[in-house]
Formats: sequence, C-alpha cells, structure tokens
Amino acid sequence: MALRSTQTGFGPVTKGFHWVMAILIVLMFAIGWYMDLLPLGLEKLAWISRHKSIGILILFLAIMRIIWRISEQTPMPVSRNRWEIAVAKLSHLALYGVLIVMPLTGWLMSSAANFSVSVFGLFTLPDMVAPDPALFETLRTVHWALSWGIVGLVGLHVAAALKHHVINRDVTLRRMLPVVKGK
Ligand code: HEM
Repeated sequence: MALRSTQTGFGPVTKGFHWVMAILIVLMFAIGWYMDLLPLGLEKLAWISRHKSIGILILFLAIMRIIWRISEQTPMPVSRNRWEIAVAKLSHLALYGVLIVMPLTGWLMSSAANFSVSVFGLFTLPDMVAPDPALFETLRTVHWALSWGIVGLVGLHVAAALKHHVINRDVTLRRMLPVVKGK
C-alpha cells in the first residue's frame, strides 16, 4: 500500500495524522474546560497532568506531521478560485503554527509556575524558564487567548470542508476521510 499522498489524494499517513490529532485536540478542549471548573484539589491536579501529557503528545505529533508534510507532495486544491486557495493555505499554515505554539505556551507556563511537565509519568521535561509568577500569569492569558484562536481556526476549517461537501459537492472532504467513496 502506498503511504504517501498523490496529486489527487491523501495517503494513509497524512490521514492518520489528521484524524488522530483532530480527536486529541477536541479532547484537549474538553479536559481544558473541565479542569478549569474543578475546585483546587487532587482531582484538578490529575486532570491538569493528563492535559499536559496529551498536549506534549500533540507537540510531538505536530513536529512529525510538519516533517512528513514537507517531505511529500500534497494533492492539488480542488477549488480554482485564487482567493479561496490563498485563504485555505493561510489557515492551514496558522493551524500548523498554533499546534506548535499552543503546547509550547503550556510547557512555558508550567515551568514559570514551578511545576515541571511529566509526560504520562514516563519522563519529565526540562523547565524552559525559571519560576516567575508574573510570567506565569501572562502565559496563562496567552494560552487562554490562543485556545479561542484555535476555536476560530478549527471552526473556519470545518465550515469550509462542509461547504465543499454540501454546496460545491466536490471531493475536498471525501479525500481526507479514512475511506474514500465515489471518487
Ligand atoms: C494543542 C494543545 C493544547 C490545547 C488545545 C490546550 C487547550 C487548553 C484550554 C482550552 C485550556 C482552558 C483555558 C481556560 O478556559 O481557562 C487550557 C488550560 C491549561 N493548559 Fe492547555 N492546551 C494545550 C496544550 C497544553 C500543554 C502542552 C500544557 C503543558 C505542558 C498545557 C497546560 C495548561 C494548563 C496548566 C492550563 C490551566 C491554566 C490555568 O491555570 O488556568 N496545555 N489549555
């Protein structure tokens, strides 16, 4: 089976990255918003710890995904509209960017709060900065603001995929699905 994408379709590796990361990102929001509601205690700390581990997994996957993306060709855009192609390119670039920057702000924030990041209890990441309560507060605000940036970007991404599928009735969404039907 060919692993790489072709001029007309995405390969299984790219599809795997796409859907695994989509699920993990939804999970990160669910955990992030849930842990925010919990009172300070062991339960909250356990969820924060899970949030951090999955966030670092996303950082690792995002780096792997970008390397993979650079190493292969990507299918031609379905749309012929230059404006639509430019917005799609920009939003995809922004999505790759936030998938790197968001976990980094989390890691930096944890270091500034003097809580080292343990990844699934397997190993502990080095602290990126010295403990600094003021920096922690700034990074916390940045992390929160970026989370809403991601909501906006993902919203645009999903809306565009649905517009192609329902209004244009083209293959844009179908060619990213695990199994392509009626191509
Ligand atoms: C793509 C990756 C990530 C996403 C989508 C994400 C999303 C979120 C969200 C939605 C919140 C709740 C914000 C609020 O409404 O107050 C949150 C909080 C938090 N995140 Fe992340 N996060 C990510 C990565 C990380 C990583 C890698 C770490 C640490 C290593 C981290 C540490 C934290 C902490 C400590 C909080 C609680 C901040 C507070 O005290 O209010 N996050 N995150």
